[in-house]
Amino acid sequence: MVNILTVSTQPFEGQKPGTSGLRKRVKVFQQENYTENFIQAMLEAIPQADGGPKNATIVVGGDGRYYSDEVLQVIVKASLGQGVSKLIVGLNGIVSTPAASNIIRQRKATGGILLTASHNPGGPDYDFGIKYNCSNGGPAPESVTDKIYEISKTIKELKLGDAPKIDFSKLGTQQVGDLTIEVIDGVNDYVDLMKTIFDFDAIKEFFNNNKDFKMLFDGMNGVTGPYGRRLFVEEFGLDDSSVMRCVPLPDFGGAHPDPNLTYAHDLVETVDKKGLDFGAASDGDGDRNMIIGKKAFVTPSDSVAIIAHYAKDAIPYFKKHGVNGLARSMPTSQAIDLVAQKMNVEYFEVPTGWKFFGNLMDAGRCSICGEESFGTGSDHIREKDGLWAVLAWLSILAHVNKEKPAGVQDILQAHYQIYGRNFFSRYDYEEVDGKTAEDMVNRLRHQIEKKELIDKTINGFTIAKADDFEYLDPIDGSVSKKQGVRIIFKDGSRIIIRLSGTGSQGATVRLYVEKYSNDAKEYTHETQTALKPLIDVALELSELEKYTGRKEPTVIT
Ligand code: G1P
Ligand code: ZN
Repeated sequence: MVNILTVSTQPFEGQKPGTSGLRKRVKVFQQENYTENFIQAMLEAIPQADGGPKNATIVVGGDGRYYSDEVLQVIVKASLGQGVSKLIVGLNGIVSTPAASNIIRQRKATGGILLTASHNPGGPDYDFGIKYNCSNGGPAPESVTDKIYEISKTIKELKLGDAPKIDFSKLGTQQVGDLTIEVIDGVNDYVDLMKTIFDFDAIKEFFNNNKDFKMLFDGMNGVTGPYGRRLFVEEFGLDDSSVMRCVPLPDFGGAHPDPNLTYAHDLVETVDKKGLDFGAASDGDGDRNMIIGKKAFVTPSDSVAIIAHYAKDAIPYFKKHGVNGLARSMPTSQAIDLVAQKMNVEYFEVPTGWKFFGNLMDAGRCSICGEESFGTGSDHIREKDGLWAVLAWLSILAHVNKEKPAGVQDILQAHYQIYGRNFFSRYDYEEVDGKTAEDMVNRLRHQIEKKELIDKTINGFTIAKADDFEYLDPIDGSVSKKQGVRIIFKDGSRIIIRLSGTGSQGATVRLYVEKYSNDAKEYTHETQTALKPLIDVALELSELEKYTGRKEPTVIT
């Protein structure tokens, strides 16, 4: 027996889950009862459709970042308080986000709690995050996150089991009162799943037949290190030097575990210096990915389009199940739409955040999807999946090289020859003042409402349409409003401006620009040069510098 203690508490402001769970500085979570409040609200909000918290089976995992150990103990206590019957926890609380999504589905669990702030830096002075996933393995939809927030605003009493400190460093099952805790290895199930999707022998054969082909995977000191080592070194037999930063560290070694050209700089430099053929990285919790090649950077928008193009030929999972629809987040370039049109399948444009793909996938209407923010995935799970994308690219390389030698740049150029090229870039202005950022967006919203922007021409670009993106979910009919200011020009170019929903400090302005070209002479042009005129238009229209005081973005991707 374990006593359930009743502890009085008070609501905290701002426990509103953002694009992907609640992310705050560690110090915020460390406030007395802050984490307890949120976890209890999360458990109470488990949808009745999934059976509610009582007798629930919950998968718990995370990227192992600083403060995870303490929060794991809170989850045990709160679970006892809510009558949860089983927790399935990764060894030391570590499971990548995609692997957790898989475990929820495989074990038919009620849901999952993921302890991660994804690619945000970790450590005592940085970020922690908690997010809830439902029984389909995907991030909770807004109906659930809204309920969590509502509960958090009125919570007065905590029910916490008086449990001893649980040791999560040993595999196996333990019993605490009525709660069963099973500690599992988070890597095995995931690797098994990948073997059902990809042709591991074909990839191995490709490496064996092309001994000069060199790759490097960067785990960025995050959760995917052990997964990456297992796949590339143990399964494919590559040299130890084909992986780097593959030991998960609670502070990611002080690095920013976000796979892009800025933060995965070491990888980019090594690939360049050593003339490697393929480089890949994933983020802190393993759902994001970056793909590069010899003198080649694959934008995530192109990556998902290219994967979709080759899927049925290069990846057994899609040979078997077909490609039943494609999707992208609104700011992501329209490259994948062109592939969908050619394949004659449905395609969707959803708001930013992976949670919006789940309904489409559950309904069998979306097989492959992606976001410009280095998120790529498919309906094998309900999260984006970094290593899946890397394996997809290796499968494409293996497939294409059966015909003739081709590297990443050749695959890109071949794609542009068929579809044209969607130049795309995102400018991030981090930690700007929240109020002025809101004012800047509101000014644009106001101009849109008054229809002041239509037919305006700047730098030769004429505005055809402007709106604040609104999404009607075709499956459950829910409507998500104010998902980003979108300005579309007569030539199909687009500018999008929205505020980040994952930051933990101040506001982050995201500015996205896209320009399409079907002039073959332009396919090798450098992205920033190709987009410069459009970026100037975006800066002029938004008056970004005036509002934020920033001359340069913090990060360009
Ligand atoms: C960002 C990305 C978004 C992604 C999310 C979680 O959200 O833009 O595409 O789904 O991280 O990885 P944002 O900070 O823009 O709200
Ligand atoms: Zn992530």
